[in-house]
Amino acid sequence: MQVRNIHDVDVRSKYILLRDDFNVQIVDGKITDTFRIDASMPTIKYLIDNGARVVICSHLGRPKGKFVPELSLRIVAEYMNVPFIDDCLKKDFLLDMADGDVVLLENLRFYVGEEENEDSFAKKLASGYDVYVNDAFAVSHREAASVVGVTKYLPSYAGLLLDKEITNLTKLLNNPLRPLVAYVGGSKVSTKIKVLEQIVKIADKMVVGGAMGTTFNYALGLPVGDSLCEKDMMGTVNKIIKLAVENDCKLYLPLDKGVGKEFDKNAKRENRDADKIKDDDIIMDDGDKTIARNIELLNDAKTVIWNGPFGLAEWGEKWGRASFDFARALAKHTKDGNLESIVGGGDTVSVLDACGVLDDISYVSTGGGAFLEFIEGRTLPGIKVLEK
Ligand code: 3PG
Repeated sequence: MQVRNIHDVDVRSKYILLRDDFNVQIVDGKITDTFRIDASMPTIKYLIDNGARVVICSHLGRPKGKFVPELSLRIVAEYMNVPFIDDCLKKDFLLDMADGDVVLLENLRFYVGEEENEDSFAKKLASGYDVYVNDAFAVSHREAASVVGVTKYLPSYAGLLLDKEITNLTKLLNNPLRPLVAYVGGSKVSTKIKVLEQIVKIADKMVVGGAMGTTFNYALGLPVGDSLCEKDMMGTVNKIIKLAVENDCKLYLPLDKGVGKEFDKNAKRENRDADKIKDDDIIMDDGDKTIARNIELLNDAKTVIWNGPFGLAEWGEKWGRASFDFARALAKHTKDGNLESIVGGGDTVSVLDACGVLDDISYVSTGGGAFLEFIEGRTLPGIKVLEK
């Protein structure tokens, strides 16, 4: 799909309403991951360099139409070192803006009209601006006022990040170098049914790991002990396995698991073959043979897509071994020019970040849910409204 982008419009001296996705993680009053903010910078810089008056809006968290102090975007304005406007519907500050100025508005979701795509809210939000730019790929799957509604009132264009996401992900879906190997982890099959169904159609091989791999193993009759497993998803899993066979996509499931006796990051880690999991074992990571097999599969891959960690990577190296070792191997293969790698999803990107290999991956998407919906082949509402 071709979209109108900011190169198609003269932005000089124009008031630009720029939608970014600054939905970042904040712990103890500190932004823990600035990836999305940093990825938004090229568009902001382009607009400044071209003399626009840039007013950035974003959401943060899910405050459900109420003012929640911990979800204020003030902290992001401080990080970016730009003035902060404490209400996204304020307009008086516009008069004081000069060409090249940038400000950040308060959280859009403090108004209920944002998520509900209320026309009156969209109209108020759009008033006072000349042009709307969407650079928020990560929220473009939401039919929100600031993503879809405002486009009724303003000439609308994609920013450089949104354009880059569309170009890279479209190339992956339509014209990947083969073999294409997809690695899918994370906790729940139920949240990724559609994406799994789509992946078996486009990939040559699909590796399922983490708790999702546990659910697949359970469907094959393997024991899972006292572990996270969606036992009610057997019909879905069997359907996906059948689809994989029909589409000639080879499926790889966990051969072994890292298990403990307590659900605790300090629990003693043992390695257990997938058919030897004991009743009181709690699976918290993929095992050593699985890790080696997953890394070996990279040798023949030309394109790799990865979404979802293979264990409790948020607990660090001990229970994140399968994810961390894989991330490092993927980065090395990419750096050596052996393959193209595409990674998406907040938790997976955090693994790359923790390993210090974010810059070694060919393309890291800023999208979580949006990334998955794009891979599913859905047209995201925020992109559809920018179609040429
Ligand atoms: C995300 O983090 O995936 C986006 O910012 C969308 O957030 P949401 O799931 O709260 O709509």
